[in-house]
Amino acid sequence: MTVENTTPQEPWGNTVLVEFDANRIAWVRFNRPEKRNAMNPTLNREMYATLEYLETDDRCAVLVLTGTEESWSAGMDLKEYFRETDGKPRSIQNKVRTEGTNWQYRKLLSYPKPTIAMVSGWCFGGAFVPLVSCDLAIAAEDATFGLSEVNWGVTPGNLVTRALAETIPTRDAMYYIMTGEQFDGRRASQMRLVNEAVPADQLRERTIALARQLTSLSQWVVRGTKMGFRHSRLMSWETAEDFLYAKHDQAILFDTDAREQGMTQFLDEKTYRPGLGTYTTATAE
Ligand code: COA
Repeated sequence: MTVENTTPQEPWGNTVLVEFDANRIAWVRFNRPEKRNAMNPTLNREMYATLEYLETDDRCAVLVLTGTEESWSAGMDLKEYFRETDGKPRSIQNKVRTEGTNWQYRKLLSYPKPTIAMVSGWCFGGAFVPLVSCDLAIAAEDATFGLSEVNWGVTPGNLVTRALAETIPTRDAMYYIMTGEQFDGRRASQMRLVNEAVPADQLRERTIALARQLTSLSQWVVRGTKMGFRHSRLMSWETAEDFLYAKHDQAILFDTDAREQGMTQFLDEKTYRPGLGTYTTATAE
């Protein structure tokens, strides 16, 4: 009798690369450096499959979405995503679009693990969608951001405009989408498009520190917290109350130790006070 190997094959290796480290950080890298990591349909499909695979891979407790030093991503691939689908049936165009949005916001926004965008080099147009969809973002001070679309005769594609409205103030968003002017990592941080900007040579180190902070906490609590924020802001207060308590109870149900340990440390042992230190638990899953 043949025993079938049921472990699914790792779906990356072509336009997406993944490395794991001892901190359980999965470094998910755009891998089209020759095209400045522009996102073509192949990359969109491979990235979706990669994200899906990593959801249940224990080597990944935090996912860092990164590019090369020269380019995070130059946005949607203008040739493969737009020109080569021109004149194709609407159903094909629609499929190509959906494959992009499937991972760039649908999968990422509700990703069950914490996600960090680590940005250096170019970040253009369509790349703003996965950037904003990551929970947190750190950029190199000299990274270059641009919403160049108006310069070559189109309005911002995909959900770029929506992503901007989600993060940066209206005046700044309007300025950059209407002029197409570029800005650097420092300005991105000032507008809160990213959490912070650091010198390029400290980018990886800072990202690791942040990721480790997240992995030191109960993963179910971090998950419940991020989902609670993401979804409840679109709800009425009444619905949010119900939903947030359900998330609260779910985190306790899935990780009883974390809450018990926190309460005991504060109330009984007097070893931890929230104002004076970060509560951590070894209970990761
Ligand atoms: N779509 C398709 N191809 C792209 C691309 C994109 N968004 N961005 C870069 N490329 C391709 C170039 O066409 C070139 O391909 P080739 O070698 O076959 O000619 C290759 O990547 C290298 O680009 P190049 O312009 O030579 O590199 P550079 O380092 O001088 O400049 C950028 C890098 C990112 C500043 C420049 O490529 C650029 O402005 N790209 C467009 C960015 C953009 O407006 N994106 C919004 C899309 S939604």
